[in-house]
Amino acid sequence: MNDSTPLQLGILGLGEGRSILSACQTSELADAALLCDLNEDLCKQRCAESGVEHYTTSYEDMLSRPEIDAVAIYTPDPLHAQHVKMAAEAGKHVICTKPLFKGLSEAAEVKAAVEKAGVDVMVGQSCRFFETFSRQADERDKVGSLLSVEAHYNGDKRKGTSGSWGKAGAVDWLYTGLSHPVDLVYWHLGRIRSVQAVGTLSPAGEGLGQTAPDMLHVILEAESGAVGRVSGCYGSPHAHPDSEPMIGCTLRGSAGTTQAWYPEFKYCLHTDEEGNVAYNDWHRHGYYFRWGGASHHAGEFQNYLEYFVKHLRAGTSPRPNLNDGIHVISTLEAIGLALQNGEKVEVPDISSGENL
Ligand SMILES: NC(=O)c1ccc[n+]([C@@H]2O[C@H](COP(=O)([O-])OP(=O)(O)OC[C@H]3O[C@@H](n4cnc5c(N)ncnc54)[C@H](O)[C@@H]3O)[C@@H](O)[C@H]2O)c1
Repeated sequence: MNDSTPLQLGILGLGEGRSILSACQTSELADAALLCDLNEDLCKQRCAESGVEHYTTSYEDMLSRPEIDAVAIYTPDPLHAQHVKMAAEAGKHVICTKPLFKGLSEAAEVKAAVEKAGVDVMVGQSCRFFETFSRQADERDKVGSLLSVEAHYNGDKRKGTSGSWGKAGAVDWLYTGLSHPVDLVYWHLGRIRSVQAVGTLSPAGEGLGQTAPDMLHVILEAESGAVGRVSGCYGSPHAHPDSEPMIGCTLRGSAGTTQAWYPEFKYCLHTDEEGNVAYNDWHRHGYYFRWGGASHHAGEFQNYLEYFVKHLRAGTSPRPNLNDGIHVISTLEAIGLALQNGEKVEVPDISSGENL
């Protein structure tokens, strides 16, 4: 790969993988060189939709191709660790969708494989790349010194996720859901020191065969001393869309407060310096949501794909990188412990890898 040729990307998992496929079609920085899914009918369908000519049903086959620079992984959560490790061992750079892993049990071996191979791994935390959340981060200084971050991702998942594994009771909303708001809090506040949490399992979740709570509220303490709160409720209907966003993030600081909504394009500030300001970038809807409604938010994927390629070209680490992702998973694992024992749980410092 050099500065003028598009990144040759292999896409693994063609459900949500459809979004990065769309991103490759509209970006000049990357080509979808090869598609991969165990489901051959889905491979054929995605090739027909996109005009991509090549597919395989074998991940090993994809990884053996020298022309592939990087792989983008959209398989079910429990497979991510194994799939990232295999990619690193084949010398491929990686974009892995959220949650990076489902727990830390395989994190040490993945980290060792990635460091040995010297490849880059970026977590596809799509929220960071949505219009409102990016603007909020760009304008973080406007709130003064940051004191509190509150983030949530709620959704009506009483019938499971759109993916087939989500209907078989295999989803743990702690990882699948809270990975979004916990990453938002970490992005703004930095390392999380401790967590406290409560949760309950909804009748709908129980009916799907889930065993972990799917109605979750958490408070977090950052090493900086600032505080955070995240919520995720998946076993009840959506709130009225005028009353709260599906995903939201509020920053409160010594000089202002900002609020960003998703999937609406609302972003509001109230600062000592500027007073009340509100934006609504609705005209950007078509770029982000390419199949109508608010599903398959391909614009965020295009933003993170282009960011990834620019960092590879510059030789810098695209973030959230593997260490960022592991800290988020470590925080989620601590939340899982706090849900079980009802106590405040310290988040281990795994930056050196010693506590993995
Ligand atoms: N905001 C986001 O970024 C976002 C949104 C939705 C889903 N996701 C994540 O994307 C992932 C996939 O979710 P989904 O809803 O598309 O699920 P899905 O079940 O629809 O798709 C997963 C696909 O992976 C394929 N697959 C599984 N194992 C494979 C293997 N070994 N080799 C090749 N293909 C394999 C399956 O056949 C299936 O088509 C999950 O981790 C989910 O959390 C992220």
